[in-house]
Amino acid sequence: MEKVGRSRRRFIKAVAFVIASVSLVWKFLIPRVSRKKPLLRVAKAEIPPGGALVFRKSRVAIIREGDDIYALSIVCTHLGCSVNVTPRELICPCHGSIFGRDGEVFKGPANRPLKQLAVEERGEFIVVLG
Ligand code: FES
Repeated sequence: MEKVGRSRRRFIKAVAFVIASVSLVWKFLIPRVSRKKPLLRVAKAEIPPGGALVFRKSRVAIIREGDDIYALSIVCTHLGCSVNVTPRELICPCHGSIFGRDGEVFKGPANRPLKQLAVEERGEFIVVLG
């Protein structure tokens, strides 16, 4: 009887070891598939140099600085109001937080930067992923 209990424990340990090993190998060897969905698709030519396109409904700003094009969520990190995009900064109308054009906090009460969104260039278009 004792021999059966010992071999059962050994079997359970072996199964646990195999499961842990497979999950570890899976995590590091299998690439993560991006599950981000396209939010917006915009022609690059529509984004003004040194300017921004703002999509209020999607709550996204696509900003061009020199050759760089990037997208920010315009959801204020304080309490979620939509910030206004100006040529120099992004200003929250609710409690006055001010963010730089890169999303960094210049003035609170917000204490976290605006969320950067992934952007992909696809030919003549920019696709914002969310
Ligand atoms: S919601 Fe933007 S500062 Fe409060």
